[in-house]
Amino acid sequence: MILEALNYAASWPLTMPAHRPYLRSSVNLWSRAHRCARQWAEHEARSKAAIVAACDGLRQQRTAVVLGSGLLRDVPIVELAKRFDTVVLVDLVHLASTRAWIALKGLKNIRLIERDLSGFDSLAMGQKPDPLSFLRQVPYLDFVVSANLLSQIGIGAKKRLETISAGTMPGDALKTLISAHLHGLRDIAATTCLLTDVAYSVIDRAGRGQETVDLLHGVEVPAPDARWGSHLDLASEWDWPVVPFGEQSADHQVVHRVIARTCR
Ligand SMILES: C[S@@+](CC[C@H](N)C(=O)[O-])C[C@H]1O[C@@H](n2cnc3c(N)ncnc32)[C@H](O)[C@@H]1O
Repeated sequence: MILEALNYAASWPLTMPAHRPYLRSSVNLWSRAHRCARQWAEHEARSKAAIVAACDGLRQQRTAVVLGSGLLRDVPIVELAKRFDTVVLVDLVHLASTRAWIALKGLKNIRLIERDLSGFDSLAMGQKPDPLSFLRQVPYLDFVVSANLLSQIGIGAKKRLETISAGTMPGDALKTLISAHLHGLRDIAATTCLLTDVAYSVIDRAGRGQETVDLLHGVEVPAPDARWGSHLDLASEWDWPVVPFGEQSADHQVVHRVIARTCR
């Protein structure tokens, strides 16, 4: 609790006022990631491997952008910083602990951007959301990673919808925002790597699934094909025990299904 409070307090002045409400969930994620480090290790290693495989063989390695960089747990940041001239990390918030870790590692070519990547505000203003349009202004962009962010866009937007009056947003808002992220990634003139959890299941100790929830609200992730390739063949989908046994319940765990796709 003390470490969480310190991280929160240290992150507060470093975070723009509009994004401070997101600090709490980021600190909670930081705390859970430490508690569940052993159970999350395989997911983190597979995510990192997928990202490295996606940028292997790039003709140029000038600028890389990581969307949803968060705590840098599933991002091979040291490897990216070695390979690329500049690595831009984009998230709602960057905790003081993450900033300190980057400084400690002496990673000098990292830039941090605080940005809402959901497109929620545009949609609320009646516009077609184009949340990744800012990437068109990034010079020498060669690689973009969406790092376990997409499902969070749906979850965050659902929470925001609950705070505004009914009818303010289109009925298919969550689908529209999730699709906008996928279209944005597909349209970037650079190699992109999409990592996302697509569904979760609540599973009991006997391995029986109690319920499965679609985190992408019916939006299909691109199938591996000529443009959206699955670069890891068999290993391009895996399970991530986000809430292992004992975290919230002794008898149930919550396991997320994660996919990796590359678009060249
Ligand atoms: C599951 S975490 C991803 C973990 C991260 N890739 C890592 O390696 O630690 C999801 C991340 O997405 C960020 N996020 C959620 N909604 C966002 C939004 N609308 N815009 C930007 N970032 C968002 C959260 O702050 C969080 O860091």
